Amino acid sequence: MATEPRDQKPAAGPEDPDFHASEFAAMRRENADPDEKVRPLPWFFTMFLGAMGMWGAFYIATTPSGEASAYGDQRTVELLRPAVATAGAAPAVDGKQVYGAKCAACHQASGLGVAGVFPPLAGAEWVLGNEKVLISLLLHGVQGEIVVKGNTYNGVMPAFGTLADEEIAAVLTYIRSDWGNQASPIEAAAVKAQREATKDQAGPYAGGAALKALAP
Ligand code: HEC
Repeated sequence: MATEPRDQKPAAGPEDPDFHASEFAAMRRENADPDEKVRPLPWFFTMFLGAMGMWGAFYIATTPSGEASAYGDQRTVELLRPAVATAGAAPAVDGKQVYGAKCAACHQASGLGVAGVFPPLAGAEWVLGNEKVLISLLLHGVQGEIVVKGNTYNGVMPAFGTLADEEIAAVLTYIRSDWGNQASPIEAAAVKAQREATKDQAGPYAGGAALKALAP
C-alpha cells in the first residue's frame, strides 16, 4: 500500500490513517471555488431591451402630437373651444352678474350705495341720463366732486375700460332697468363708438362738471 503512487490513491477520508499526511488533504479540506452568482444579462435579453428602447424613441419621434388620436379621448382642441358667438346672435352677457361681481361691493346690491361714500344708482340722474356720459364714466372712471341726487360725493370711481363692450352694455342696461329705474337699454355698438370717441381721455374724469361737458 505504501508503494502505490499517491495520486492514484482513492479519496482518503479522515478515518484513513494516511489522510493527514496526504498532500491532497489540504486541498480536500478547502471549499470549492466560488461560482459567480451575478451573471451578466443573457445577450438576447440585452438585445431585447435595446430593441424596446429604439422602438420607444421611434414611436415618440413619429407619433403626431396635438391631433386626434385613434384611441382614447378623441376630442380635439377645436371641439373643446367654447362656442364663438356668430354674427347676429349677440352673446348673452348677464348684466346683473357683472354688476354683482364688479359694482355691488361699492354701490350695493340694492343700488342704494353707502351714504356719503358710494353714491346710489337707483334713481340717479347719471344712470338714467345721457348714455354717452354714462358710458364714458364707466370706461374711464371718475375722481372728483360729483353731485348725485342732491348729495355731493368726492371719491374714486374705478375705470372699467378693460371690460368688453358687451359686458359694459349689459351692466349699464341692467342698472338702467332695476330698482325702479326705467331707461333705454344700451347697445354694445354704442359702447364701442364711445370708446373710440373718448380714446384720448387719459385717466379718470375730474368730477361731475367734466362729465357734463361731454354732453353739452
Ligand atoms: C371701488 C368702489 C366702486 C366700484 C367697484 C364701482 N363704483 Fe361706481 N362710483 C364709485 C364712487 C366713489 C363714485 C363717485 C365718484 C366720485 O365721487 O367722483 C361712483 C360713481 C358712479 C356713477 C355715477 C354716480 C351715480 O351714482 O350715478 C355710476 C353710474 C357708477 N358709479 C356706476 C358703477 C358701475 C356700473 C360699476 C360696476 C361696473 C361701478 N360703479 C363700480 C365707486 C365705485
